[in-house]
Amino acid sequence: MTDRLPGFNTLAIHAGAAPDASTGARATPIYQTTSFVFDDVDHAASLFGLQAFGNIYSRITNPTNAVLEERIAALEGGTAALAVASGHAAEFLTMHALMQPGDEFVASNKLYGGSINQFNHSYKNFGWSVAWADNDDPASFEAAITPRTKAIFCESIANPGGVITDIKALSEVAKKHNIPLVVDNTMATPYLIRPFEHGADIVVHSATKFLGGHGNSIGGLIVDGGSFQWAGDARYPMMSQPRPEYSGMVLAETFGNFGFAIACRVLGLRDLGPSLSPFNAFLILNGIETLPLRMQRHSDNALVVAKHLAQHEAVAWVSYPGLETDRYHALAKRYTPNGAGAVFTFGLKGGYEAGVKLVSNLQLFSHLANIGDTRSLVIHPASTTHRQLTDAQKSAAGAGPEVVRLSIGLEDPADLIEDLDGALRA
Ligand SMILES: Cc1ncc(COP(=O)(O)O)c(C=O)c1O
Repeated sequence: MTDRLPGFNTLAIHAGAAPDASTGARATPIYQTTSFVFDDVDHAASLFGLQAFGNIYSRITNPTNAVLEERIAALEGGTAALAVASGHAAEFLTMHALMQPGDEFVASNKLYGGSINQFNHSYKNFGWSVAWADNDDPASFEAAITPRTKAIFCESIANPGGVITDIKALSEVAKKHNIPLVVDNTMATPYLIRPFEHGADIVVHSATKFLGGHGNSIGGLIVDGGSFQWAGDARYPMMSQPRPEYSGMVLAETFGNFGFAIACRVLGLRDLGPSLSPFNAFLILNGIETLPLRMQRHSDNALVVAKHLAQHEAVAWVSYPGLETDRYHALAKRYTPNGAGAVFTFGLKGGYEAGVKLVSNLQLFSHLANIGDTRSLVIHPASTTHRQLTDAQKSAAGAGPEVVRLSIGLEDPADLIEDLDGALRA
């Protein structure tokens, strides 16, 4: 063996996995068990005291989930990861480790509608507040920072609008104010964008989407970039202060550059409980094995469909950064040279009514609230995912009344175009 690190395709298949030590099983087994037998009393005590790594109970660790955690950490280039029950759970446990009651964070205004709701409403119950900033204007993030600001949150490619975020510019703002930058990398996946290479400190995923990739399992991931210095920083007590739950242990000192991932696991996941089922971890792992192939095909197909729609008479505009005329094309070339992903929006000249009609008339496209499936998907955000938002919030999030969102699958693009043309004619 040389010192050369394995490539992305190899990591997508092998990282974290080995033939099962007791059976030789080559695929990662599903360890469908709640709990694990201790060697003896001392072993049990050392596991409970965080003096040894190992399994106690599947709410906190599980060997199938551990393979998924190692794999995403390797693909993102992070130090450690945590698998959880959903993308929302990943966002929540991340904020739980960063925020105290009365704290604030600054978030991009171009986010998945569910995240906007979560931040605006549910987080209030914890005493956390969000300040919204303009995704295209890094200075607006800086202007929203106060002494209580604990993080900046954005998406690498924003759902639903086909918006590319200038992660490097936001990371410079975060570094200047010594707060972590959290990037939701769901839409890009590490195949298209690796946020740590652009200065992010924490990456979260809805593994439900392209990582799993087959529309069959809900899951979430948190990846620790290992870059933020928590030790000695009293603003982040979960990582930097003695923990009464663990005999005064300071997680950032004991676990160094993966102290954040440990805090999410042993304080967040342990106490709040949104653990990922090993069966879902198994399905997501299977998905990741073909991630590079699928993401390339998703992006290639999306570009063909976007080009077709851009010259269609019923279409007012197409927002896909892969198009040379798109306002985010320059950022796309910089951040995602392999392709601009599968998801994009377009506007119908016929407005809200035309959007509702289109989704009813498509046949090959499935009308549903998801992205990142092998199948092509369609939704009219204003009447579904973004309906709780005010009109102003809808437009700010790229989900105005005339907007239709597509998640382009792996079918033959000619068939997708025929389906769209037929539905637009009808
Ligand atoms: C970008 C993004 N982040 C987070 C989520 C939430 O993920 P989940 O549905 O797995 O909770 C979604 C879901 O659509 C999403 O698109």
